[in-house]
Amino acid sequence: MTAVSRQRVAMSGFGSVGQSLARILEARPDLPITLTAVADRRGYAANPMGLQPRALLAAKQQGSVALHPYGRKGTIDAAVLEGCGAEVFVEAASTSFDDGQPGWEYVQTALAQKLDVVLASKGPLVAHWDELHRRVEESGSRLRFSATHGAPLPAVEFATTALRGSRLRSIRALFNSTTGLLLEEMEQGRSLTEALERIGQAGVAETNPRLDVEGWDAAAKCVIVGRSVFGGRMELGQVDRTGIQGLSISDVQAASQSGGPIKLVSRIRPGDHGPEAIVSPEPLSPSDPLAALRRGALGIVYEAEPIGDLFVAAYGSGGEPTAAAVIRDVLSVRVREPS
Ligand SMILES: NC(=O)c1ccc[n+]([C@@H]2O[C@H](COP(=O)([O-])OP(=O)(O)OC[C@H]3O[C@@H](n4cnc5c(N)ncnc54)[C@H](OP(=O)(O)O)[C@@H]3O)[C@@H](O)[C@H]2O)c1
Repeated sequence: MTAVSRQRVAMSGFGSVGQSLARILEARPDLPITLTAVADRRGYAANPMGLQPRALLAAKQQGSVALHPYGRKGTIDAAVLEGCGAEVFVEAASTSFDDGQPGWEYVQTALAQKLDVVLASKGPLVAHWDELHRRVEESGSRLRFSATHGAPLPAVEFATTALRGSRLRSIRALFNSTTGLLLEEMEQGRSLTEALERIGQAGVAETNPRLDVEGWDAAAKCVIVGRSVFGGRMELGQVDRTGIQGLSISDVQAASQSGGPIKLVSRIRPGDHGPEAIVSPEPLSPSDPLAALRRGALGIVYEAEPIGDLFVAAYGSGGEPTAAAVIRDVLSVRVREPS
């Protein structure tokens, strides 16, 4: 049997997603992935021979990966990337949709060194789509970002493979787990503030709750999925966006009691000048497959011809399924599609 060589990975961000990735690698030594550099806000650890996930997690428990025996203050810059021999750079830090930072800086450095790039954070895509793709092309690197749009839903992959030869008319999706959970809490009579407190510990919510509640996170996913699937331009500000903050407990309860729960629905379709998207809370018909999704599950209905409607759902969300999507991407950068 041929031994599979291991992918050497540098990663920025060691929060819910990064630590889940380390726990999975600790539990699954058969996965051919070696972490050679990991950064958080306080510093980084790097070793070209590989960093044991358990030691990274232990250092983080003390406060930072910088406390690892190979830890230091500072950030993963070009010299660190070169020194640790990484082949793939994973960006899993908290992110800004305005400027894509801090990940955008790291991603540019990684691409300049011709590393493949896997994104969990949406910021670099949402803020710098064209420039990012131009740099990927220039460097000959591979870019994967399935963790950015409702991980672990394979939203773009499904559209580009299972619908090959069909015409995709539109996408309707539940892209945001947190609002699903919040609306279910409101069905139980809790206010949005109480609901946010209750789900705060689940590791699903964005650090800034406005991103979920006001629909920014779902809108960012519309940009990523819409541009990937339909091509053309669409900026975050062009998404017609309404969050769930204007809903009252009685609105949510009345809809649920009549059998058609309110969900934050994202709709994307091709337009004359690029994709068009709307994010808004909608009461769903009881027969709609999206209406049956509970406990923050995510799902997409692809409306396509002649294949008909197809429905894909993901019942897990949060750090671990997102880390699993990152692993899927890291392993897939080696798979060269036939030209
Ligand atoms: N959690 C999910 O379900 C999920 C799903 C899909 C996508 N994502 C995206 O994945 C990314 C990570 O999510 P998460 O849930 O792991 O977030 P998180 O728990 O808040 O962790 C964020 C991590 O980023 C680190 N960080 C912040 N600024 C940094 C910098 N300048 N350099 C290096 N590291 C920095 C933080 O460092 P400290 O630990 O020192 O604070 C922390 O380790 C986010 O962009 C998120 O939107 C998350």
